[in-house]
Amino acid sequence: MGDSQVWDDVERYFTSRLAADDEVLRAALRDSDAAGLPPIAVTPTQGKLLQLLAQIQGARTVLEIGTLGGYSTIWLARALPADGRLITLEYNPKHAEIATRNIARADLDGIVEVRTGPALDSLPHLADENPPPFDLVFIDADKANTPHYVEWALRLSRSGSLIVIDNVVRRGDVSDPTTTDPDTLGTRATIDLIATHPRLTGTALQTVGPKGYDGFALARVLG
Ligand code: SAH
Ligand code: DHB
Ligand code: MG
Repeated sequence: MGDSQVWDDVERYFTSRLAADDEVLRAALRDSDAAGLPPIAVTPTQGKLLQLLAQIQGARTVLEIGTLGGYSTIWLARALPADGRLITLEYNPKHAEIATRNIARADLDGIVEVRTGPALDSLPHLADENPPPFDLVFIDADKANTPHYVEWALRLSRSGSLIVIDNVVRRGDVSDPTTTDPDTLGTRATIDLIATHPRLTGTALQTVGPKGYDGFALARVLG
């Protein structure tokens, strides 16, 4: 792949200049890897983007769906004030355990709460607690359920909240109207929801780099 070499070179350059990690972030990836978690965390430049978006939002509260080893969680939580709150939902108990350790090592256990279980079980419980609206919601779990997660994000947010969705391109599968893949169908339904929902306005961006060809969708919640 002629292109992927240049994508990787550019990514290394941007990462070293703009999204330099530190021992805590490196350790989070190292321990996730050692525990056999899949290497599918956001890249450093993407983590920095999430952090910037949270800062631009002036976020005090973040909801994340899909924790893995807590790598994106750490980037996001570092954007929050000391009395901020980040709730992250993770289906796999092993992932949740690794994430909990990584988050504690990052000294973020005071503001981050990892909740274990299928997100569609955790979200109704969370709503029952009547939490203050989330300023940013990052959706990065099972792609088939993403439209449901967007509906929950709407319910748990406010006018002006930002919803960010990972992996909306997946090598380009998303534009195939004949797809029968449940994940791609979930992503297409998500794009339709953003396009048609009266309380959402959004866009989607393609990305290249070490994770291949993929992309993000962003949606702003309207009054
Ligand atoms: N946001 C992470 C990557 C998440 S990978 C990062 O960038 O660092 C996707 C995660 O979603 C996996 O850990 C997977 O176990 C979790 N997941 C899959 N289905 C889920 C569900 N129904 N509810 C909650 N989490 C789920
Ligand atoms: C996969 C999941 C992700 O969230 C991601 O960013 C990349 C890949 C996957 O399930 O393959
Ligand atoms: Mg992802």
